[in-house]
Amino acid sequence: MAKTAELILDGKSYKLPVVEGTEKEVAIDISNLLEETGAITLDFGYKNTGATKSAITFLDGDKGILRHRGYSIEDLAAKSSFLEVAYLLIFGELPMKDQLDKFSDDIKRHTMVHEDIKKILDGFPSSSHPMGVLASMFCAQTAFYPESLDPNRSAEGVYLSIVRSLAKMPTFAAWAYKNAMGHPVNYPDNSLNYTARFLKMLYALPAEQYEVDPVVADALDKLLILHADHEQNCSTSTVRIVGSSKASIYSSISAGINALWGPLHGGANQEVILMLEAIRKDGGDTEKWINKAKDKNSGFRLMGFGHRVYKNFDPRAKIIKKTADEVLSKLGVNDPVLDIALKLEEVALRDPYFIERKLYPNVDFYSGIIYRALGIPVDMFTVMFAMGRLPGWIAQWKELRENKEPIGRPRQIYTGQNLREYVPIDKR
Ligand code: MLT
Repeated sequence: MAKTAELILDGKSYKLPVVEGTEKEVAIDISNLLEETGAITLDFGYKNTGATKSAITFLDGDKGILRHRGYSIEDLAAKSSFLEVAYLLIFGELPMKDQLDKFSDDIKRHTMVHEDIKKILDGFPSSSHPMGVLASMFCAQTAFYPESLDPNRSAEGVYLSIVRSLAKMPTFAAWAYKNAMGHPVNYPDNSLNYTARFLKMLYALPAEQYEVDPVVADALDKLLILHADHEQNCSTSTVRIVGSSKASIYSSISAGINALWGPLHGGANQEVILMLEAIRKDGGDTEKWINKAKDKNSGFRLMGFGHRVYKNFDPRAKIIKKTADEVLSKLGVNDPVLDIALKLEEVALRDPYFIERKLYPNVDFYSGIIYRALGIPVDMFTVMFAMGRLPGWIAQWKELRENKEPIGRPRQIYTGQNLREYVPIDKR
């Protein structure tokens, strides 16, 4: 017999259907609640609201589990490549060799960006944050590929937009940085793989031979895998809600980039480094700052600790910490800010205050450290997150479209004035 939940409102009982996921997660289906009871549910920040059914990512915050299409993040990070994970997320299965080769070749064919988009880039002052530039260039594609605006596009048309999105993202990302530096841009070198191609566009200077360090390229590939999807987080929900109005893939993803920009979401790793810099400038006394974090009245919050959905260790943080250790020792990085980070982590991990509250370092804590060790500028951290999250956004946009989901339209409880009479200005 199908499970139901009982709701009693004003003494009247209502039976609500219960939905179970493949991992036995339970949801009470309230889609007909308003019609049947006249009431809506209220859930600030959607902390307890399932907005969709999705077959892409499974996350268990209590157990610290993250899986994409059934594969554990540990396996994917250790054994696959970013493009392989992108294929898995978007198309549902790990690719065969010929499928991955074709996917990678299709992407290479579209890495160049229309020179007129470059003119848009040239209009941005170098003081522009690269995230704003990235979101704008991403959205500008709607003007250059107007066929992408057709909400009833063919599967081939959608595939082309997916490939273009993945192909141009590293070019846009590197160009956004070059713009901030006031330097000329580099064009994509298609003899390199996805990550190395990005690094060369980011770092190479004109008239200089630039060799991509494979340690850096491999570490970056792993970081991109770790960020590839995270079910219905703020930016992904944004992509889905914008996409639900049948907006194009480029405008939906551009909205996701903007949502990711905030310091509470993708901007958190940048905030971690700014916090570490501030601690260093203050003399580097980590105990003092840990005590400040525990004092509610200090106004200081330890960035990069704790997570909205993980009540256990963030599984990505475990992998990234190991990668950070390996990369720091391979590159022989010696950086006082990184030393402070490691001390802070050590102190917090043995302090009962943090243990009781399950405030473990999250993925943003370590990603900031590792990006810094790789020489990636702080303003680019969130851009790196966007590059990693792109396959997830695409997969979720595609799923929403294929499932023909309705337009997203939450309700509200109105708390304003009741009806009152208009008073002319001279009588107020
Ligand atoms: C993410 O990866 O999107 C972040 O950890 C934020 C989240 O999941 O809410």
